[in-house]
Amino acid sequence: MAATIPALRLPAGIDMPVYGIGTWRMGESARVRAAEVAAVRHAIERGVTLIDTAEMYGDGEAETIVADAVGADRDRLFIVSKVLPSNASRRGTIAACERSLKRLKTDRIDLYLLHWRGSYPLADTVAAFEELRAAGKIRAWGVSNLDHDDMQELWRVPHGGNCQTNQVLYNLTRRGIEFDLLPFCRRHKMPIMAYSPLEQARMLRHKTLAAVAQRHGATAAQVALAWLLKQGVIVIPKATVTAHADENLGALDLSLTAADLATLDAAFPAPTEAEPLDML
Ligand SMILES: NC(=O)c1ccc[n+]([C@@H]2O[C@H](COP(=O)([O-])OP(=O)(O)OC[C@H]3O[C@@H](n4cnc5c(N)ncnc54)[C@H](OP(=O)(O)O)[C@@H]3O)[C@@H](O)[C@H]2O)c1
Repeated sequence: MAATIPALRLPAGIDMPVYGIGTWRMGESARVRAAEVAAVRHAIERGVTLIDTAEMYGDGEAETIVADAVGADRDRLFIVSKVLPSNASRRGTIAACERSLKRLKTDRIDLYLLHWRGSYPLADTVAAFEELRAAGKIRAWGVSNLDHDDMQELWRVPHGGNCQTNQVLYNLTRRGIEFDLLPFCRRHKMPIMAYSPLEQARMLRHKTLAAVAQRHGATAAQVALAWLLKQGVIVIPKATVTAHADENLGALDLSLTAADLATLDAAFPAPTEAEPLDML
């Protein structure tokens, strides 16, 4: 049965699903390509409509995997891709987007992100994003891996306040953004996209996650994702194993109680001072 996935409204008024599938490390080996297409296709058939990819992943191959998995379903999907900082000049961003559109076999990207900050001025990348948006090649744009001070700088750039999201590393073991970056984004009504929401599976053996999961007959992965959803952020777990994909979707039906949240806070404390943004 297909899951029903709620949406959040971006500042520009566009609805974005709160749950999607990630594609990092896909497209790196021809041997497993068919399995990766099948994994993304499986997620779509289970009701997932948000797909996160990037020109960096598999050197563009992840985008071709997404295209193959999407097939005729493009119009009901929300596709996020990212420009590499080394391409993020005024002209380079436009060219990179054109290449991504070709690989994705689509005429528009729903949300296009600067993957991380590089040496090109933010003003140039933003100007290119705005041009792409005016041309209908992207519906909206955002950033990734920008820390609190970078976001403040972005807001001082012409049209910088049109940013729709910041995609950052966020999970129970990486709560640093709660001190200043998350409050900044909330003030601007801009949802965060939490990447590596399962800490690439490293956190799943934690005994507190297991204990909370046991109270609900759930799994550690479901608790980790349900906690993030409770923070009002968008999650994009990656799963190539279909059983993982199905299990993760169960997080949408898991309602954590105040007691669960207190248990999780005690095991994974919130930050008490500013911390530099973690990246993977
Ligand atoms: N903007 C950025 O700089 C950035 C950085 C990192 C990631 N991302 C995006 O965020 C997405 C998610 O992050 P991620 O891929 O780094 O890590 P993740 O989603 O936290 O974890 C993915 C790993 O966990 C495993 N897994 C998934 N569900 C599981 C379950 N229920 N039980 C056990 N293992 C499970 C997957 O295994 P199988 O594949 O074998 O199922 C995979 O190895 C990426 O794919 C990418 O789209 C963005």
